[in-house]
Amino acid sequence: MKLNFIIPLALVLAAAGCNSNNSKKDVPVYLDPSKTVEQRVEDALSRMTLKEKVAMTHAQSKFSSAGVPSLGIPDIWHTDGPHGIRPEVLWDEWDQAGWTNDSCTAFPALINLAATWDRELSHLYGDCIGAEARYRKKDILLGPGINICRTPLGGRTFEYMGEDPYLSGQMVVPYVKGVQENGVAACVKHFAANNQETRRTATNSIVDDRTMYEIYLPAFKAAVVDGGAWAIMGSYNLYNGQFNCHNKKLLVDILKGEWGFDGVVVSDWGGTRDDDEAIVNGLDIEMGTWTNGLRGAASDSYAAYHLANPYLARLADGRASEDVLNDKVRRILRTVFRTSMSAEPHFGRFTSPEHFAAARKIATDGIVLLKNDGALPLNVPEGGKLLVVGENAYKMMVVGGGSSNLKTKYEIIPLDALHEVYDGKATVVWERGYVGDPTTDYNKVVTGQDLSESRPADVLIADAAAAAKEADCILYIGGLNKSAGQDNESTDRGDILLPYGQEKLIEALAATGKTLVVVNISGSPVAMPWADKANAIVQAWYGGSESGHALVDVLTGAVNPSGKLPFTVPFALADGPIKTERQYPGVREEGKQWWQEYYDEGVFVGYRWFTSKDIPVQYPFGYGLSYTTFDIADAAVKASGDGWKVTATLKNTGSVAGAEVVQLYISDKEASVERPVRELKGFEKIYLEPGESRRVEFTVGKDALSWFDAGKHAWVAEPGDFEAQLGTSSTDIRATVNFTLK
Ligand code: BGC
Repeated sequence: MKLNFIIPLALVLAAAGCNSNNSKKDVPVYLDPSKTVEQRVEDALSRMTLKEKVAMTHAQSKFSSAGVPSLGIPDIWHTDGPHGIRPEVLWDEWDQAGWTNDSCTAFPALINLAATWDRELSHLYGDCIGAEARYRKKDILLGPGINICRTPLGGRTFEYMGEDPYLSGQMVVPYVKGVQENGVAACVKHFAANNQETRRTATNSIVDDRTMYEIYLPAFKAAVVDGGAWAIMGSYNLYNGQFNCHNKKLLVDILKGEWGFDGVVVSDWGGTRDDDEAIVNGLDIEMGTWTNGLRGAASDSYAAYHLANPYLARLADGRASEDVLNDKVRRILRTVFRTSMSAEPHFGRFTSPEHFAAARKIATDGIVLLKNDGALPLNVPEGGKLLVVGENAYKMMVVGGGSSNLKTKYEIIPLDALHEVYDGKATVVWERGYVGDPTTDYNKVVTGQDLSESRPADVLIADAAAAAKEADCILYIGGLNKSAGQDNESTDRGDILLPYGQEKLIEALAATGKTLVVVNISGSPVAMPWADKANAIVQAWYGGSESGHALVDVLTGAVNPSGKLPFTVPFALADGPIKTERQYPGVREEGKQWWQEYYDEGVFVGYRWFTSKDIPVQYPFGYGLSYTTFDIADAAVKASGDGWKVTATLKNTGSVAGAEVVQLYISDKEASVERPVRELKGFEKIYLEPGESRRVEFTVGKDALSWFDAGKHAWVAEPGDFEAQLGTSSTDIRATVNFTLK
């Protein structure tokens, strides 16, 4: 094995103060924690050979890139991300290495975090996962993901924060800060306009500047400028004709230019495609699978990476400049001095009870109550029978889904959590009802469940319906899972309906006339044409280790639901803004090497489309019920400094304590361009006791009124009338106040 940590004796002695005159003055600057990061970077850089510099710019194993052995600067360890710390993998394989001490806390999927609309919980999430990464000696966490949900079919919607750039931007900042407070770099991904998995490595996203700046860039900008992210991952796709891992406009002009990003750009694994562009267009570390990334090659070929031998050859014959290399190395060294060699030591924590408690809290607070005619909280009579139907009541979901696959210490399934609550008081019976995904392993991580099933589909339905006749109440727990074609990396979904014949099963259960509560577990929008047949509907997510407890807390009323949809649930796919193949999944054009995809809908993504075109939806963005009711009253607006203060009173008008998210939408009444009818520009989640009320206040600046004028390359707030709309979803506006920009 190569020893990467041999520090030259002289340096060790110097660092320890053991030099000839025993003074500290000879400690090399880069090893001296009292020096600034920039001083340490410059000092380390000045001691490095060209070869050492190039070695830092590319992978040396599946998840590590080189440090500087001669200086005792450790390798950089990367890890997925974004829902927990991936199990250790073999040096050069995706499969887990088989360690027995790397089972992590599985946190809820990021879409679940987004559904909490709670910035404090986002910080808690970041802090906990950052601590787990640090404990496992990881320096760069490959997450969070914040690509916008442009089509409900997107396979990785579950790993992202929904359809709105403001919500994503507000939620990503505390996550990034929480991670980095542990001396771990958050690597925000996947930059940018990477909104589908279908042909993700061969699709050119053609997006106009206004749409880019208003929809696809703001959350990344927030992560970098407000969150201070130390790393960014380039995405697989092309944007306006150039691959994103070395896209000049994205990386050089916008990220490092306009936003002043001083961190490190990491390629997606195998996303680097060109020697010369990789050198000059802003990429700092090339990570990957094999040489030529996606196209496959012999194993252990890291020396043949674009930023390895081809780079050295170009430096040798003058085609590449050392100044550009130095910029990359400075960024990489900065990452080291911010993380593993930070002046402030961090030790991390792993699978602590606090982490599982945080996972449970986040999972619970993101669960969304979509419909309730009084069937919830569950009312199972003493000695009665609760029939649970559906694979997702039983199937473990932490394993699978792609690079976010985790090995966790434990996972509470909904069925077990129900038994914990009801055993001894009522009978809980489970019927599978359908077969979805019977697999129980991913990259050699196994759940240990047996999901084999010999009954055919019609028998499964008949068995469930027969059991329903004996039950007091039916709790259906189905939805999607993380297998290919569902919520999964590298494939998109085929449609937005429930798969595996679940609709037929739900109809059969409804036909029994028993109270029917449906829980849809998914990471992306599922249309529900059967909705009026259910007495109550709950949207739950991949909740991680504590998912079962979280769901059952909401179903039983132990916790009052307060989650809000981070995306729109349409009645039908065709209702949405994507109408043509050129919009999605892209088209092949004469003479063009890659699939061309035109973002013709422009800024009209998600609720911006539905509200502007007045198209009814099944459940709107921002929507979510509670076991109590809230009222918004006494809205007011007044000028304040350069902007306005918008205030209103939120009151809990029901009989139980709970939280509501007051959402502020701005509507531009007279713009010179077509603008969405309303856009989210503020939100506050407020917890109130029954009868309690609280004044909520939003600051509205010109930025909240602006649209991006591509011609001027500037944000423009046009004088005229605006409306501040306060509501509990993007369609439930409870109060409106007007103001004028002079
Ligand atoms: C995914 C990234 C992930 C990387 C490393 C890629 O295929 O797109 O999100 O971080 O693999 O596992």
